[in-house]
Formats: sequence, C-alpha cells, structure tokens
Amino acid sequence: MLVEVFNDYEEMSRRAARHVAAAIRQKPDLVLGLATGSTPVGLYRELVRLFRKGELDFSRVTTFNLDEYYGLSASHEQSYHYFMQEHLFRHVNVALERIHIPDGQATDIQAECARYEQLLAEAGWVDLQILGIGGNGHIGFNEPGTDFGASTHLIELAPATIQANARFFKSPEDVPRRAISMGIKTIMRSREIILLASGRDKAEAIRAAIEGPVTNQVPASVLQLHPNVRVMIDQAAAALLSHGGQGQTHAMTV
Ligand code: F6R
Repeated sequence: MLVEVFNDYEEMSRRAARHVAAAIRQKPDLVLGLATGSTPVGLYRELVRLFRKGELDFSRVTTFNLDEYYGLSASHEQSYHYFMQEHLFRHVNVALERIHIPDGQATDIQAECARYEQLLAEAGWVDLQILGIGGNGHIGFNEPGTDFGASTHLIELAPATIQANARFFKSPEDVPRRAISMGIKTIMRSREIILLASGRDKAEAIRAAIEGPVTNQVPASVLQLHPNVRVMIDQAAAALLSHGGQGQTHAMTV
C-alpha cells in the first residue's frame, strides 16, 4: 500500500487527476470505477480541465459507479446519476452507452445487482477504482459489519452515514435508508485502487483502515489485502497515522 500525503485538498485532487489521466493515456479503453460524495469533486474538476485543454480523451473509457441510493430517480438532484452528470459526464466526451450506475429505481433488486455484476464481468472488471471513505470506514456503501465476500447488493445505510449525508438533503429524514452498492468482493477485483480522503473528519477512519487490523468493522481495512492500492490524502486526513501527516508532501509504503 502506497500512502501519499499532500499539503491540502487541491494538491491531492490535482495529483489524483494526474494519475487517472496517465492511466487513461496508457489504456484509452480503461474501465474506470467512480465514487461520488464531496471528496472526488476536485478530482473531477481537474479531469474536466485536462479534457478542455485537449489533454484527455474519454471516448473509449468505460465507467462504473460504486453505488446509488435506492429509491431516487436518475433526475433527482441528490441521486448519484445526477451528481456524475453535473461533476463529470456532461463536461467530457465519455460515451453514454459506456456509463454504468446502479439503477436506484429497479423493482427487482436482485436482478439489478446481478445485471450490474454481469456488466462488470463482461467489461473485464475495473482497471482503476476511485474510492472515498466514510467517517465510519465504509467504502462504497459497505458499512461496518459488511460481508467481505459480497458482490453488488442492497445495503441499509448506517445511522452515521445518514447523519453525514444529511448535509446534502433538506433534512436527515429525506436521506434514503438504502442503497445499491458494489460489494467488497467486487471492489477488490479492481486491478488498481486509489483511496482519497481529505480533512480531519477522516483521520480516524484512515488510521484504522491503514494501520488497524483487517476487520469488517472497518470495511476500508480490507484494502490492506489488495496488491495495488494508492492512498492519496491530505495532511489533515493523515494526522493520526503513526508516520504522521506533517511536513512536506511525502509518500510512504506501509
Ligand atoms: C460514494 C461512496 C462513499 C463516499 C464516502 C465519503 O460513492 O461510495 O463511500 O466515498 O461516504 O463521502 P464524502 O466524500 O462525501 O466524505
């Protein structure tokens, strides 16, 4: 696991975008796994900037998002379909037919989860997966206690996640209680993973994920078992690591 600590959110975002851009240039038909939430917004902004400068071409890239709230339509402003359109898709030349996000309005959930796994399998699984991390250590919407053997499935959001995500809704009551998420097994099939985290609120989750025991109580700790993970975080998120997050931008292998 490579841990790179950057001075701030902007630098983290720029460096992560540079890494994603290099992966696309090296493999123009890259299968890119995407996350939503506040953390990757800067990364997407930077990817859009590179695209506009003519330095990046998404025309052959395939995307798979990690998750979608259950019960929200694609046009709902808090749906992850909407988020991705706003922050990335409508600004770049990614082909509509190569964009994949779980259907939050599927009536047959089992069939939708199976369909999503099937599409991933047909695409040869994810080449490069972007992850954020919840304050409780979740990745995707795989909450503490999650089964490491699970593929795409319906999950119940943890109370802490509902609380954390309430900032995007009018009130906590409006936050959907369930979501469809790639499972840990699905995420772990990715050939490379970038875990992003920014801010002091994420410091404990990052410490537990990187330096704590591998346990399903901290779902992100499973990444310690993956052979190709790059943790890209700012100093605030690195504050509780035993190697420290102080000083200049630096990398360490743990
Ligand atoms: C989003 C996702 C979540 C978020 C996590 C952090 O697709 O899968 O795991 O990455 O909840 O969210 P932010 O970045 O808003 O703190």
